[in-house]
Amino acid sequence: MGKIVVKGENGCDILIERGLLENAGENIRKITKANKALVITDTNVVKLYGDRVKKSLDEAGFESFLFSFPAGETSKNLATVTDMIEAMCTAKLTRNDIVVALGGGVTGDMAGFASAIYLRGIDFVQIPTTLLSQVDSSVGGKTGCDLSFGKNLVGAFHNPKLVLIDPDTIKTLPDRYKNDGVGEIIKYALIKSEKLFNKLIGCDSFDDILEDVIYECVDIKREIVENDFTEKGERMLLNFGHTLGHAIEKYENYGGLAHGEAVGVGMLYITRASENSGNTETGTADKIEKLLKKFSLPTKTDANIDELVNIMLYDKKRRGDKLNLVLVKNVGSSFVKAMPIDELKDFFAEDK
Ligand SMILES: NC(=O)c1ccc[n+]([C@@H]2O[C@H](COP(=O)([O-])OP(=O)(O)OC[C@H]3O[C@@H](n4cnc5c(N)ncnc54)[C@H](O)[C@@H]3O)[C@@H](O)[C@H]2O)c1
Ligand SMILES: [Zn+2]
Repeated sequence: MGKIVVKGENGCDILIERGLLENAGENIRKITKANKALVITDTNVVKLYGDRVKKSLDEAGFESFLFSFPAGETSKNLATVTDMIEAMCTAKLTRNDIVVALGGGVTGDMAGFASAIYLRGIDFVQIPTTLLSQVDSSVGGKTGCDLSFGKNLVGAFHNPKLVLIDPDTIKTLPDRYKNDGVGEIIKYALIKSEKLFNKLIGCDSFDDILEDVIYECVDIKREIVENDFTEKGERMLLNFGHTLGHAIEKYENYGGLAHGEAVGVGMLYITRASENSGNTETGTADKIEKLLKKFSLPTKTDANIDELVNIMLYDKKRRGDKLNLVLVKNVGSSFVKAMPIDELKDFFAEDK
């Protein structure tokens, strides 16, 4: 259906089309002279799509290999990255060869990171298979893994040479992970596109608009990443709802709301607070609440806002005595406000 071209030195093509998985090899062949391709995936995705992608690579003339690691965020650590690199060594990949990351954000982030550091960097391709990875993590070149000290604390910018998005893979995705993606999609609408917001509000079935919506989200991320690859300015807007969302996830010890659900609640709470302080057009929070409800996303957390603010003070995005908060002026228009940390409690207080 669509092709999006990311321009600049970190550029790449992003193809979005149902059934694209079957032609993965052919499309990857067009962008590389590699002899070998190592598919890195997890234990769930390998069963669903591993053989299909490997076969397609073989048919396109690659000598291909398949490596899978135990699915889930708990695997997102340096030990698994080492396993990936050892799989590259076992396959004797050279600088000319290529890694294919097949799976969700956990796979893409780690396989991308392993590719960034193996032989000081080899090429990789993303085939994202979760909604979140299709609209978000596969684009923009952020790779890495978690440490016991926190999420994504180690990593590198390493852009894929190609991103292949097959919306058909979402059919097998469990609901919990679909919600994650929908939370991020609503975020894109709120920060940049009233048109996308209206499409989400107006649709009868999400499946009908899936491809379109993926295209629009990727295009928004493309534009932001082209302007600000290393997150000095505009790229911060992608964190809308995340500072509070991360605090909710942490408060619940990552066993409560899923990421996208927590981001949804985060966007709603911060917009209520921002309306109360005169930064946002009245009625915006109600619109957000309506959309979250439409997609059966939660609109509340049991956590007390003071406790959440305390957790937010340790956010990775904190700079000295200020925290960069992303706010919306109205649906589709967003900005960054540097908030002194001693004003944070007051900012959220009216929301109680
Ligand atoms: N690099 C970035 O810019 C960026 C942005 C956002 C999030 N992330 C990272 O992404 C990660 C979350 O990504 P995720 O939600 O995709 O997690 P994930 O990779 O763990 O995938 C979620 C689950 O779905 C399974 N799965 C994947 N595709 C499937 C399919 N088509 N059918 C059935 N099951 C399938 C996986 O095996 C896993 O169990 C986090 O670690 C986060 O830090 C990175
Ligand atoms: Zn997110």
